[in-house]
Amino acid sequence: MIEIIFGISALLSLSFSFFKVKSLEKNLKDLDSHIQELKKRATEMPFQLKGKINSLMILERKNNSQPVPIVYYEKLDKSVPSFFQSDTIYSLAEDEGFGLTGTCEGNGDCGLCAIEILEGAENVNPKNNIEKEILEKLDYKDGIRLCCQTNITGNVKINFIEAKTQ
Ligand code: FES
Repeated sequence: MIEIIFGISALLSLSFSFFKVKSLEKNLKDLDSHIQELKKRATEMPFQLKGKINSLMILERKNNSQPVPIVYYEKLDKSVPSFFQSDTIYSLAEDEGFGLTGTCEGNGDCGLCAIEILEGAENVNPKNNIEKEILEKLDYKDGIRLCCQTNITGNVKINFIEAKTQ
């Protein structure tokens, strides 16, 4: 009788190990396909690492060796690279968790994401009509932009300013 119990127990243990191995094999396969996907994405990225200065990565575009534009947030002493044309100064700050105060989620309606461009004003897109309307309505001086409506093509240095409310 004891032999039968041992036999059943050994069989159960073997079955359990078999399923465990199968499960691990599946996880390994999933992990491998995830790694392949990441490698593929890395080769498709239009940027490459050019070098590092301390902890700052210097990236350049693969096709023409142009450096990646950087937004420098002066009050926070933080630099953030803009990898995509669709990045706005707002979306970059949001991704970094800088604690933005805008209430319209970057739609250009609230006017609370006002910034002053300290350097590199030539490296930002022109104001669109939505932005012009809000800036006029809130009577902001020249040089102030809504960072949710501002894309960059080169380096800029900015400061968040005290926002006016509507
Ligand atoms: S976040 Fe509301 S206007 Fe920019």
